[in-house]
Amino acid sequence: MRRLLIAIAALPLLPLSACGLGGEEADLQVYSARHYDLEAAFADFTEDTGLTVEFLDGDDAELLERLKAEGDDTSADVFMTVDAGMLWNAAEQDQLAVMDSAVLEEAVPRDLRDPEGRWAGLSMRARTVVYDPEAVDPAELDAADTYAGLGDPQWQGRICMRDETSSYTQSLVASLIDLHGRERAQEIVESWVANDVEVMSNDIELLEAIDAGGCEVGITNHYYLARLLEEDPDLGVEIYWASQEGDGAHVNISGAGVVAESDSPAEAQQLVEWLATDGQSQFVDDNHEFPVNPDVAPEELIAGFGDFERMPVDAAAYGSLNADAVEVLDAAGYR
Ligand SMILES: [Fe+2]
Repeated sequence: MRRLLIAIAALPLLPLSACGLGGEEADLQVYSARHYDLEAAFADFTEDTGLTVEFLDGDDAELLERLKAEGDDTSADVFMTVDAGMLWNAAEQDQLAVMDSAVLEEAVPRDLRDPEGRWAGLSMRARTVVYDPEAVDPAELDAADTYAGLGDPQWQGRICMRDETSSYTQSLVASLIDLHGRERAQEIVESWVANDVEVMSNDIELLEAIDAGGCEVGITNHYYLARLLEEDPDLGVEIYWASQEGDGAHVNISGAGVVAESDSPAEAQQLVEWLATDGQSQFVDDNHEFPVNPDVAPEELIAGFGDFERMPVDAAAYGSLNADAVEVLDAAGYR
């Protein structure tokens, strides 16, 4: 663990913590922006393969900067993020190695992995609409683009959304730019602001506000709703699959790639492949995410949310349009 400690000392601004099995240096080191129950999945991987894993968790942009700063001194073998645009960015910035993997080509749908094999999606999260059933008739939400529809005057004072600094918000707006062009995306965000959207700092807070009657409609990642429903099946919040008459609900992925400077690229690729196949249920179910692997069924609670059409994931668009999305949000006064 010596290298890791040196790296932390060299970059003291990063609020990172190392988690793992302790003792000897592990076979694989994962830099992960995905904080959900990784220990259980990695312990299963160790049981299956004999390879030990530890992970360092942090914000995905910070971890990417760290990889670049460490260069060939890095002890990281796998980079894991919670945003397709960030995976695209890591590949663009030459931080990921090519995985030539028939396993991943078989297990992961084409739009959820890099065409050049530098990263693969491992779980899907839908960013869709939720509402208070006592205040909203879901038929009011039917629209070719439900996200844009929340800018209609009928939603004045009724909507809440996530803050502008979240990659979730930024990738959603990037997808609107991708679908409708920047000018129209700007109008959509302005229409939310004109509706006095209440901007919240996390999705759980937003869901609790809807449950408490503080707002009527919001946009959230589906798994936060699943998490709250697991604790309280009587929660007063319903899911609505957005844009089913149009482009489908916005979906993002968490995924991973092998670090370009990894000392153990074959084992690192083995971990990514395992997470997409034998370890897929373990990896996605604890966080109530949708499997990327079509042969793996989603867990019961989210299966109960019903089937839905999703937008294709365009990682290159989410990544390359991120700066535009940030500008659009800023120019609209979304905060
Ligand atoms: Fe999340």
